[in-house]
Amino acid sequence: MATYILALDQGTTSSRAILFDRNGHPVARAQRELTQHFPQSGWVEHDPLEIWHSQLDTLHQALASVGASPRDIAAIGIANQRETSLVWERATGKPLAPAIVWQDRRTAAHCAQLQAEGHEEQVRRRTGLLLDPYFSATKLAWLLDAIPHGRERAQAGELAAGTIDSWLIWKLSDGARHVTDATNASRTLLLDIDTGQWDPAMLALFDIPLPCLPQVVPSGTRGEPIALATALGHPVPITGVAGDQQAALFGQTCFVPGMAKNTYGTGCFVLMQTGDRRIHSSNRLLTTIASHTQERRYALEGSVFVGGAVVQWLRDGLGMIERAEDVEALAASVPDHGDVHVVPAFAGLGSPHWDPYARGAIVGLSRGSTRAHIARAALESIAFQSAELLQAMQADVGHPLTELRVDGGASANNLLMQFQSDLLGVPVVRPRCTETTALGAAYLAGLSAGYWESTGELAGNWQVDRVFEPAMSRDEAGGRLHTWARAVERSRGWTR
Ligand code: G3P
Repeated sequence: MATYILALDQGTTSSRAILFDRNGHPVARAQRELTQHFPQSGWVEHDPLEIWHSQLDTLHQALASVGASPRDIAAIGIANQRETSLVWERATGKPLAPAIVWQDRRTAAHCAQLQAEGHEEQVRRRTGLLLDPYFSATKLAWLLDAIPHGRERAQAGELAAGTIDSWLIWKLSDGARHVTDATNASRTLLLDIDTGQWDPAMLALFDIPLPCLPQVVPSGTRGEPIALATALGHPVPITGVAGDQQAALFGQTCFVPGMAKNTYGTGCFVLMQTGDRRIHSSNRLLTTIASHTQERRYALEGSVFVGGAVVQWLRDGLGMIERAEDVEALAASVPDHGDVHVVPAFAGLGSPHWDPYARGAIVGLSRGSTRAHIARAALESIAFQSAELLQAMQADVGHPLTELRVDGGASANNLLMQFQSDLLGVPVVRPRCTETTALGAAYLAGLSAGYWESTGELAGNWQVDRVFEPAMSRDEAGGRLHTWARAVERSRGWTR
């Protein structure tokens, strides 16, 4: 009898494989870093073959670490970095260019042109997103322009395009399946999020030929698997797929409308479950598909492009700390931020500003400022950006948040979590298992494979590690947020 669910978590900076048991406990894990390529200012690329090989290696490593084989896997679930786009040749399976990563800004001018032509309103209505280089459509258009005869070949069905989920499923199934799920498809600017189908008006607007796109399939429903992973020697069903942020919402068991989570990874992504109600944001947040199991569920999302990555920058860019976890001690070595603010707009600003031309800024420096103040301000920037998202979200839904569930690497930082709670004025709740992205993919896969029976059973697995209660006065929090907004203003439009 197969004993585990295998989750593949293909993220921006690493590929991971985790085996989960029936209690939702991770029993084995393996991880490989992914090379980041920055060929020009504002460009970010990944090698699709490195993504595939790193994912396959971690899968085998995780199995080997507990003496298991593919026969011991009941089902595979996949969670992946979203929006990152690539094109490959169907006949050979060869990628025709590097994958363009979600952080890449090269299509800013294309987006600005479409905005100037007045397309944003219909884009928002149909896709729930807005015109920003973050999303896949302009990246795919750029790739089809760059590949010789790209559009004709795509139209003729010779090329396959997609996000990382499609690519991994294609490789795992030895080229048998070219599919995606609704959560990933809802990040492309090409999906009508009311019908869950590719939208002909959006395909025309971005000039993307339908024959190159994957089929959109449900994920996490009983019945036929999404694909069979034949590349593992023994065929294992792939029964769950979700974009990593939607997977984290599922892994945090935020099934009831109003529940919200924030994942502190490379970026920060706040998602609030809104059930079968699609909420139109008046505050420049995104409406996205949270899951599509039996029915389609929606979420409101705020996306911050540089969250935990600001700590990597302190480590690798400034050489200020040796290990990421050292930031907490350095930041705590000063009593406060000393009026310093770091705005990590390295890849422009996401929600709610949507400014691809913004760049990073450090403001408020005085002769007394030290590297500890900069470290503290960098850490605080993660909480400030997240607080802006939650303010916008509460304004959109018209009621206050009761708690925020947190996960991702930087959620281990107690100083940051306390400051987050102080700014928000609500409890910040960290679960015992912070591998919620992989767990969400495992849950989706395990529900369809009959490994778990119901979402109620999954919610019962969720356990609290620590609750951070707000300790700052609302006046002080308001003042801090006001000063932060002034710092953000200084970073805006820098490269325009
Ligand atoms: O939308 C981008 C997001 O999916 C990236 O997530 O965890 O790879 O930084 P992560």
